[in-house]
Amino acid sequence: MKLFLPGPVSVRKEVLEKFLEPVIGHRSAQASEIQKTISINIQKILGTEHTIITSTSSGTGLMEGAIRSCTKKRALICSLGSFGELWYKLGLENSIETDILRSVSGEATDINKLKELLNKNDFDFVGITHNETSTGIKNDLDEFKDIIAQHSDIIWALDAVSSAGGTPINQDYYGIDIVITSSQKCLGLTPGLSFASISDKAYEKAKTVENRGHYFDFVNLYDFIKDHDFQYPSTPAISNMVSAAYQLDYIVNEEGVENRYKRHLEMSDYFKQWANKYFPVYGNPKYQSPTITAINNTNNIDFNDLNNKLMERDIMISNGYGDLINKTFRVGHMGDYTIEDMKYLTKNIEEVLGL
Ligand SMILES: Cc1ncc(COP(=O)(O)O)c(C=O)c1O
Repeated sequence: MKLFLPGPVSVRKEVLEKFLEPVIGHRSAQASEIQKTISINIQKILGTEHTIITSTSSGTGLMEGAIRSCTKKRALICSLGSFGELWYKLGLENSIETDILRSVSGEATDINKLKELLNKNDFDFVGITHNETSTGIKNDLDEFKDIIAQHSDIIWALDAVSSAGGTPINQDYYGIDIVITSSQKCLGLTPGLSFASISDKAYEKAKTVENRGHYFDFVNLYDFIKDHDFQYPSTPAISNMVSAAYQLDYIVNEEGVENRYKRHLEMSDYFKQWANKYFPVYGNPKYQSPTITAINNTNNIDFNDLNNKLMERDIMISNGYGDLINKTFRVGHMGDYTIEDMKYLTKNIEEVLGL
């Protein structure tokens, strides 16, 4: 089955085969080496020199850890849709005073509204959704650069779950303190791991925050990996890490990150051009994502019927998400797919729908 989902994606056979290697001890020198390889390559993918944490959880765990560890006063989430709502909820459910700046569906964050909110309130944590997987919209970080520099007292965090590895992040250039991503999307890995980069500023801030919890406490994680040669406080998903170290080394040192971004853009351009012939792609074209396409279901296609017929051909795509279920459907063009894979998908959709 080829998964053209907006995550999880199909994983290369060589990467899956790494799970067949004997399990290693998580306190061994070999474990340190693997975890160091992951850190170095995630730094390159995110464009940062900050400390990297690998978590045995999906990205939601580190999003919870970030808002809980680094908010002392009040948090603000710049939301583009369902996953911004998720971060907002994570704040509230951890008893953190949290506000949300909602964009109009299909649009990016309104920077003027963000400026107004920052001038009126005393926020000390701002979370930004980079690439909203439910709407296929990506915020343009260039629009945030000045405001981040003007509010350097705030901890700036980025949800790059569906963008890191598929499009540049350049964390340090933008002055972002925390970037979070998950394994199962553009990195082309199995689900089960997530990664965060943490600036020293965010770490120092977290040290002043009480009740940070335990498992996702950024101070505990940061201190432990520094003191224990890249190892983790509890037993991590070590076999996932072996597979991740292999794939991240491939991304950085074999394919090369720039080639990877170029390939993602080519797949996105091809698929969006194709989709626009039959349906409009959802959202403002200026902000459409290079890793996901949400298609406006203006032809009232029965999505389940389409997907069932595609599944008979070993292909799977995804319905809309949240409020957009059945109104849109989504295709992920992320991970290790090629333009040939996208052509194979469009040919099959055309055959099934008789286009
Ligand atoms: C933009 C975005 N943020 C956060 C999440 C949550 O990540 P995870 O499922 O890895 O916990 C997702 C998952 O699809 C996502 O797409």
